[in-house]
Amino acid sequence: MPHHETGEALFCLCGVYMDKIVIQGGRALKGEVRISGAKNAALPILISSLLTDGWNTYSNVPDLKDIQSTKLLLSSLGASIESDGDSIKINGGGMCNHEASYDLVRKMRASILVLGPLVARLKKARVSLPGGCAIGARPINLHLKGLARLGAVIELKHGYVEASADHLIGNEIYLDIPTVTGTENLMMASVLAKGVTVLRNAAREPEVVALADVLIKMGAKIKGVGTSVITIEGVSSLKPVSVSIMPDRIEAGTFMVSAALTRGDVTILNCEPNHLEAVIHKLILSGAQVTVEDKSIRVQGSDEIASVDVKTLPYPGFPTDMQAQFMVLMSVARGVSIISETIFENRFIHVSELKRMGADIKISGNTAMITGVPALSGAPVMATDLRASASLILAGLAAVGTSEINRVYHLDRGYESIEKKFARLGAAIKRVNG
Ligand code: EPU
Repeated sequence: MPHHETGEALFCLCGVYMDKIVIQGGRALKGEVRISGAKNAALPILISSLLTDGWNTYSNVPDLKDIQSTKLLLSSLGASIESDGDSIKINGGGMCNHEASYDLVRKMRASILVLGPLVARLKKARVSLPGGCAIGARPINLHLKGLARLGAVIELKHGYVEASADHLIGNEIYLDIPTVTGTENLMMASVLAKGVTVLRNAAREPEVVALADVLIKMGAKIKGVGTSVITIEGVSSLKPVSVSIMPDRIEAGTFMVSAALTRGDVTILNCEPNHLEAVIHKLILSGAQVTVEDKSIRVQGSDEIASVDVKTLPYPGFPTDMQAQFMVLMSVARGVSIISETIFENRFIHVSELKRMGADIKISGNTAMITGVPALSGAPVMATDLRASASLILAGLAAVGTSEINRVYHLDRGYESIEKKFARLGAAIKRVNG
């Protein structure tokens, strides 16, 4: 049954901080796994409902902590929300509050995505500054510079960004870095601006394309989607839409690595192989057999895992969100591999935990040198970010003995029922409620 949701009701959904995941490692994973909707596509797309009056309908929405946080954020701004299984309806027409509080933004950095729609629709926004996080400083200067180019007056006061503009006016914006959420924020700000906006050095990630496709369906005029130059001709209003969220390429990649790592045989269903070319390429080089069909990928692990060097890059390069998982594979490969992280300055936080499980990894700046060991050994571990936590689950699945992954909270932000999906593939894995 659909139910109407209030901020208070949503607050009750957060009771899982102390859960842990216990894994008895060493089983080859076998079978099929269905990939859920993409977190990083769903977040901006749900937020884009603020640009319309009337009910937008979204299907294939993953059941994640970050989606709960987004619903809480949107309802705090005055949007109406109804949920029914993996489908969510959002009406942004009632939006009346222009402030996204510290309490909401600190739970999820992507909350900054409301900045563009708020200025576009309410002419002003007050959004808490996200601050740094476990993987890096993560400034939002490019979001703000872009918004200023569109004519917004921006001030930083008491930990908040205050932005206002009677009318946003299209302009040329050059992004020093092809920031993903920055590109998304500026697209949402400029679709209702007067005149033409050109975003140069824009992000080309599939999630950016998915948002642009939704905006186009709403009536926005956007060209160059999926390239580094996006041109947006402002329109006076947008209409609500009905869309399905694309599959999560990082969830798919995580399961692909799990098959190679456990020398298993896993078919990943409901995925978009085109979005995973870099990961597929590296897995093949590592010795796995990868069979690609229209919407599925089968990965068969080989007994011998070869070492492969990886450098993270903006799309279509190897995704930073797969770096930690691939490092686990390399930690049991034959020989030495080098992994360079070029997107975030501090995204090796999984390394110290992997070392406790027997991995041989040396870090120098943004480079990790991994010397493969014959096997990892199970241990109690914890991590402070989403993908690092996923890598520890993978390490636990491959390790000899029992592993205990603490701070499951991070995993629940971005992976839907990860332990149930692995259990269905034959893993000895369970969640223990804290
Ligand atoms: N950057 C700046 N200034 C800005 C914006 C970004 O210097 O104004 C820097 C960042 O500090 C970073 C680099 O640019 O060094 C790239 O950051 P980007 O802005 O592209 O990252 P993001 O938009 O904050 C999204 C995903 C991340 C993913 C990155 C990179 C969402 C909600 N988040 O973050 O996903 O790692 O792009 O692909 O889309 C995750 O899902 O675990 C996750 C962290």
